[in-house]
Amino acid sequence: MSTFKLTVLALSTCMAFAAHAESVRNVPVQPIPAVEITEPEKVELGKMLFFDPRLSRSGFISCNSCHNLSMGGSDNLVSSIGDKWAQGPINSPTVLNSSLNIAQFWDGRAETLQEQAGGPIENPLEMGFTHELAIEVLRSIPEYVEKFETIYGTSDFGIDEVTDAIAVFEETLVTPNSRFDQWLRGDDDALTDFELEGWELFMTSGCVACHNGVNLGGTSFQKMGIVEPYHTLNPAEGRAAVTGIDADRFSFKVPTLRNVELTYPYFHDGAVWTLTEAVDIMGRLQLGRVYDDEENAKIVAFLKTLTGEQPEIVLPILPPSTDKTPKPDPWEE
Ligand code: HEC
Ligand code: HEC
Repeated sequence: MSTFKLTVLALSTCMAFAAHAESVRNVPVQPIPAVEITEPEKVELGKMLFFDPRLSRSGFISCNSCHNLSMGGSDNLVSSIGDKWAQGPINSPTVLNSSLNIAQFWDGRAETLQEQAGGPIENPLEMGFTHELAIEVLRSIPEYVEKFETIYGTSDFGIDEVTDAIAVFEETLVTPNSRFDQWLRGDDDALTDFELEGWELFMTSGCVACHNGVNLGGTSFQKMGIVEPYHTLNPAEGRAAVTGIDADRFSFKVPTLRNVELTYPYFHDGAVWTLTEAVDIMGRLQLGRVYDDEENAKIVAFLKTLTGEQPEIVLPILPPSTDKTPKPDPWEE
């Protein structure tokens, strides 16, 4: 991570803290600020694109197929299913609160949500399409052309406008006001004693060293398997794939723990289905600590207080294709 980004991160964390200084507890985790929508028409367009399967070659796969907003913004599969039933290489992270992460993807290879959004459309294992064809589809549909014209001032739009709208929509996918956030803001009754003891264990045993900030994660890249190695058949190299530095091998962006109750299975290889097992593995592999059953249950109870208010999505009704729209091609070799 560049120094610049660290500074920006530190600054924005401080600012978030200052904004609520009187009401936020002095811990290395901050509540999610409520979302402010400044460009409602763009958000609406981004939502349509997020749900539109015609951005895929098959005409069947949308962003929502793998980041299902009815299911915590993920697909709850070990790894995703893409074009022609392709087996994805890695577990699909949630899109919820992803705007609050320092970078996108497990290895952080996209700096921004906009940069990220161009990837899946062209990825043969995901939507299997091309940007040119995706734009041809959208330009063949007058309602879309009209919307791009109104919002971007041109009917000559391309992939940059498409990914910009999707990114602006994704910025609205935050989940404020979880019970833990209510507690952070000073409501002592928001957590049970059992949950609070889970949070204290999370703090004192060192989970918070990596899972911190607004997202309880997403602030750094860390090695998976510090005290003991993590065994997996998944070939992902982690951060080393971006930096080329050997020491970054098997470092991954620390995932957010927001809504983690909804985003099983866990870890980049999706190998672990329960929070009980995930907490046990994290304790042993990252901290060299074995939790007894009660301690583990307390931490799991705390983690479930991180489920926030899910974005309320009114399903967008998409304009029909026209005679000029390229036809979907689900089965061709
Ligand atoms: C076929 C399944 C699939 C489809 C379709 C798909 N994604 Fe993803 N998405 C993934 C997987 C898998 C990853 C993780 C890839 C990696 O880290 O290497 C991912 C990562 C992301 C991330 C990064 C989140 C984070 O915290 O790192 C965002 C944001 C995202 N996708 C948004 C989108 C958008 C927007 C679309 C539609 C244009 C889309 N995805 C389509 C499977 C999919
Ligand atoms: C040294 C940094 C570090 C520490 C300490 C740490 N974690 Fe993690 N955590 C990570 C990383 C990195 C991952 C992703 C690893 C992977 O997918 O291969 C992760 C993943 C997780 C996941 C799975 C999330 C998902 O969506 O896949 C959970 C749950 C979790 N950690 C909880 C904890 C708990 C509870 C503790 C304390 C017992 C803890 N972590 C301590 C770095 C850390």
